[in-house]
Amino acid sequence: MIMAVALLLIVLGSVLFHVFNPWWTTPLASNWQLMDDTLTITLVITGIFFVAINVFVAYMLVRFRHREGHRAAHEPENRKLERWLIGGTTVGIMALLAPGLVVYANYVREPHDALVLEVLAQQWQWRFRFPGEDGKLGATDARFVSATNPFGIDPADPPGQDDLLIAANEVHLPLGKPVLVLMRSNDVLHDFFVPNFRARMNTVPGQVSRFWFTPTVAGRYEALCAQLCGVGHPNMRGYVVVEDPANYKSWYAALPTFAKSQAKAPEPPAGAVAAGGGTRVEQGRALADAKGCVACHTIDGSPRVGPTWKGLHGKTETMADGSTALVDEAYLRSFIRDPQARHVKGFPPVMPKIELSDEELAALVAYIQSLGSPPAQAAAEQKAPR
Ligand code: CUA
Repeated sequence: MIMAVALLLIVLGSVLFHVFNPWWTTPLASNWQLMDDTLTITLVITGIFFVAINVFVAYMLVRFRHREGHRAAHEPENRKLERWLIGGTTVGIMALLAPGLVVYANYVREPHDALVLEVLAQQWQWRFRFPGEDGKLGATDARFVSATNPFGIDPADPPGQDDLLIAANEVHLPLGKPVLVLMRSNDVLHDFFVPNFRARMNTVPGQVSRFWFTPTVAGRYEALCAQLCGVGHPNMRGYVVVEDPANYKSWYAALPTFAKSQAKAPEPPAGAVAAGGGTRVEQGRALADAKGCVACHTIDGSPRVGPTWKGLHGKTETMADGSTALVDEAYLRSFIRDPQARHVKGFPPVMPKIELSDEELAALVAYIQSLGSPPAQAAAEQKAPR
């Protein structure tokens, strides 16, 4: 009897929780109302079965409870009942699966006029690429991936030359236009997920996955990584800005092409260096963003996966083996070049080796230095209570 009451209470509690819980989905901002409908169908079907089965079990517990003088009859076979159960289960499973298959078929079959957007995932950052004027994405290969060519675009492939590259975690899209999203990964399994669009897909190393959607509400939406991909996973975030076509056009017009990014790379930015620090620090700040350093290193003094960069330069850092080292320019350079050579105490030894040109390394180090304090001052600060 107690068990029967407990079961009924669990059922009642679950139903009430679903009706009154505050954690519903984010407002829909794409054409994928069907995703929500499919989820609702699943919830209703499984909900009905959940209630029916538990009520049935509770009823049986009471109806066939132990009573003196009564004995249960053994009935191993009941053809009629079995047929009903098999038939009912089949219909239920089909009702659960069929709508999903229909929606999925639509989800990966884009309209002809869809805008093509490539999403490139890498621990722990997002990059984006548009096909440019010719409407064709250039061929890519892991062999071509380098500091100056993170997308791995084949330099000899003509369609790749006008590809537009976004080496940051924010992409803009025009309102009301269908977008075909093609996804790649440079390292491990990630998953590009924008909750407001109800759209997501794994990015699998070595293959291109796809889905399409039409943004229907202007706004700035957060894109998440939805596959556990390492310690930086919770910080692997990006943004999709949906705006009216005119604003989108002017943003789009400022994007650099692949050809331009390659032409710029070999020539040293004499101007930037001569301008003295400021520009270089700015460049380092942009790099920290683009290379995903900010996923693990804060600049506000709070440690994350790695040490904060605030006050890092000039500080004396303790290594896992108990030795100490002064964080100066040489330390920063060698640590970024070979992150596995030494391990800082209190932090997991997980920093990935990031491809950087000499110029980029100098800019990044300058940026980290700009957030630190001169050695003398740092030493004095360390004596003071924190
Ligand atoms: Cu990428 Cu989680």
